[in-house]
Parts: sequence; structure tokens; C-alpha cells
Amino acid sequence: MKKIQFSAEYLCYADEKGLPDQDKMLLNEAKEAVNSSYSPYSKFKVGAALLLENGAVVRGSNQENAAFPVTLCAERTAVFSAAVQFPGVAIVAIAVTVETQQKNMNKPITPCGSCRQVMLEYELRFNHNIRIIMQGDFGEIYIAEAVKDIVPLYFDASFL
Ligand code: THU
Repeated sequence: MKKIQFSAEYLCYADEKGLPDQDKMLLNEAKEAVNSSYSPYSKFKVGAALLLENGAVVRGSNQENAAFPVTLCAERTAVFSAAVQFPGVAIVAIAVTVETQQKNMNKPITPCGSCRQVMLEYELRFNHNIRIIMQGDFGEIYIAEAVKDIVPLYFDASFL
């Protein structure tokens, strides 16, 4: 028996100050995207913004449903929208943020497992790392350089 360890790395900024311009721009786009969130059940408005290799920015927001499980997260809404609007174009980065009811969440929102799996598919498909920029209502910003870094032991097409 041997024990194998994972390690993951992400950057942590105290706030927007010092954030690279491109990351700041994408985070602002994600903040705008929360306005299109349809979240009457959770009242947790999530916004996402993708930067594509051709320079286009595509926004997404969570879209809820009275049948709760069919809700789609902001990240997947953005990824699928980009795949339709700009077929074959790689995703370079995604910013994710939230506007809570109390606007007091200073912990960065991190994508759920399903969204990580979906983003991973596109990262591998285009052979291009996707940078993930995460923030809550305000405060600390986390940045991961690639989706595969935050999905240990991921499942991909090599198993099929
Ligand atoms: N949600 C997202 O849109 N992205 C995430 O990363 C986590 C959760 C949404 C789904 C649901 O509409 C609400 O947030 C509460 O879970």
C-alpha cells in the first residue's frame, strides 16, 4: 500500500487592488451578470463571465426552477451559452461572483462539482487552461490557474 497525496494551489488577493486588469475586467462583468439571475427560491444571485480566446466576453447567471434540481448554475449557463454563440473557440478565463440578500458574504464563491466537471470538459477539449477568478459579495479573491487543479482524480474521455 502506498499513500498518494494531492496538492492544489490558488492565489489569494485581499481585494480588487493589485488584481491584474484582465481579471478585474472579467470580475466586473460577472458582477453585472448577477442582475440577470433568476433566483426567487434561493435568493442567491450568482454571476459568471467568460473570456474567450477571440476576446469575446460571455455572461451567465443562475436560472432556477420550481422543480429545484433542474436549476442551472451561472457557470454552466455561461459555458453553454459560449459554446453555442462561439463554437470551437477556447475559454481562457471565468469569473464567478454572488450578490446575497444581505450583501455580506466576504468568502469567495467556488464552483460546484457539476460546474467543475463541465468546465473541465472544455478545458480538455480545447487544450487550454481556464483561469478561475472567484469572489463573494466583496473581499478576498481566489484565483485558480486551471480547472484540473481543483478537480482531483477527475473523470474524462480517457475512461471511455
Ligand atoms: N449556484 C451557482 O449558480 N453557482 C455556484 O457555483 C454555486 C451555486 C446557484 C445554484 C442555485 O441557484 C443557487 O446558487 C443556490 O445553490
